[in-house]
Amino acid sequence: MQAQLSGLLSKTNDPVARMATISAILYHKMDYFFWCGFYRVQGEQLIVGPYQGPAACQVLEGKGVCLSAVQRGETVIVPDVEKFPGHIACDSRSKSEIVIPVRDSGGHIMAVLDVDSKEIDSFDDTDRVYLEKIAEQVFIT
Ligand code: SME
Repeated sequence: MQAQLSGLLSKTNDPVARMATISAILYHKMDYFFWCGFYRVQGEQLIVGPYQGPAACQVLEGKGVCLSAVQRGETVIVPDVEKFPGHIACDSRSKSEIVIPVRDSGGHIMAVLDVDSKEIDSFDDTDRVYLEKIAEQVFIT
């Protein structure tokens, strides 16, 4: 999958095209990914970007796992969303979640990559490592 992604992402350095491609590949290759996609940092808000899966919240604000990942500046793994204070439930079927900050070449967090699963405790360090590598590719020139 990494090789397929690298090939596809080399066609353009447009970040939206890359986010769309990453979402599609992850969603169709990873059977436990119920929703995956991007939220873009726009001031105090996170606005939905390219994604695959059920329709999601368009604007996140003030709380949530995605905002926590931006504020902490690191990946957040939530084994059980009901136990995460402030979790935003765009779809009640989502039970666990991982959110990875997406940085530009200057290190600024421009977006997050969010993946949800319908099962509790779906994400571990292996997911974190490869999703962080994938997230790095959005803004690589
Ligand atoms: N659960 C996220 C919101 C986005 S959805 O999972 C698609 C959050 O708490 O930030």
